[in-house]
Amino acid sequence: MPEIINLSRQIEKQLPAGLVGFMQQAGLAAASQGQSLYLVGGGVRDLLLGRTNLDLDLVVEGDAIKLARRLADSTRGEITTHPRFRTATLRWNKWNIDLITARSETYARPGALPTVQPGSIDMDLFRRDFTINSMAIALTSSRYGQLLDPYGGRNDLEHKLIRILHDKSFIDDATRIWRGLRYEQRLDFQFEPNTLRLLRRDIPLLDTISGDRIRHELELILKEAFPEKSLRHADELKVLSKLHPGLKGDNWLAEKFGQARFSNLPLAALYLALLAYRLSGEETEGLISHLRLRKSLAQTLRDANSLKAKLGLLADPELAPSRIYALLHDYSSTAITANSLAADSPVARRHIQTFLTRLRYVRPTLSGNDLQKLGIAPGPRMKAILQHLHDARLDGEVSSKKGEEGLVRGWAEEPQPGV
Ligand code: CTP
Repeated sequence: MPEIINLSRQIEKQLPAGLVGFMQQAGLAAASQGQSLYLVGGGVRDLLLGRTNLDLDLVVEGDAIKLARRLADSTRGEITTHPRFRTATLRWNKWNIDLITARSETYARPGALPTVQPGSIDMDLFRRDFTINSMAIALTSSRYGQLLDPYGGRNDLEHKLIRILHDKSFIDDATRIWRGLRYEQRLDFQFEPNTLRLLRRDIPLLDTISGDRIRHELELILKEAFPEKSLRHADELKVLSKLHPGLKGDNWLAEKFGQARFSNLPLAALYLALLAYRLSGEETEGLISHLRLRKSLAQTLRDANSLKAKLGLLADPELAPSRIYALLHDYSSTAITANSLAADSPVARRHIQTFLTRLRYVRPTLSGNDLQKLGIAPGPRMKAILQHLHDARLDGEVSSKKGEEGLVRGWAEEPQPGV
């Protein structure tokens, strides 16, 4: 007889009282409908690890939508249902709770999405990726708190191992390769040897996964505290080259990611710009289309890449501020920062920092209206004068409204003004 482990005390200790109360109430509601309810997946794993995880994934043996409706009524929460998969999301308080109908999954071919069928909790745990994610805690009254661990997940947690449940796991779903790399670095675990052998065997199957799904996995990795660790191992295993053969997860990348964390820009885009930084323009386009990156992110990668070609010009110590401005102002902050982190030249880095901290905010005081009052008609000449005023401000040739007016008057009086 396997030992019965009850985790109700851990639940109470680790989760906010509101969520604990919710789970108890949900267990009672399920029982009153003749259904069984379980907490599954990452929530159980993290409970055993003593890590905070407020994402509740609940599995219902029966019908998750029926239970979600009842809970929405009693908690005054809101639900979204997906009748095709018999799943529901309940938004209650500040929490999103996923309710899934226990199911088995079969895969018609590698890379295909699974065909699902209602099933038992055991079947539901068997369809999952790794043993550490394939445990459940019963929430239905009499068994409240009991751990279900049919695949030895707790033992693997203790030994810090990432292990698949069966030999065809990566064939069923090759995105598990990326998921495993994510957990490995996050938890500081290792792939169990047979899992690693099968992972290596099944790397070619990553080609069967759609760009959207791979991008999703990469985005999840880039949200981690130290994505460079996953990318390094992905490189060693030749998983990274499946994203694009030119990508590297080396020391350079680790160093740049470490520095990127000091910026206050959205990190995922900056990381991605750094990851793609050493690709050529053409290779960058290949990556963009393979991952089907959204327009703005694609533009950041293109910007970072085309700005790279201007770093030589930015390495000139004598460069006037107005030239620095002209070279940089068309690019996004993320693309510029990626270049600042990646640039070898300290001078280029300094110029970029000057732009980011000061030059990009500099504006002339005089507006088009002011220029009209000074007798300049709207048109290309006014545009050129405004541009010259901006340059003069940037280069410190003028620092007051009066000074600007003087400059404009001087230019206006020139018979063949330079502007
Ligand atoms: N799962 C799986 N295979 C996948 C995706 C998910 O088996 N390709 C299962 C795992 O049991 C996982 C659960 O579904 O624990 C929930 O998925 P997800 O939210 O992606 O994982 P968590 O472990 O909850 O969260 P995280 O990865 O952020 O810790």
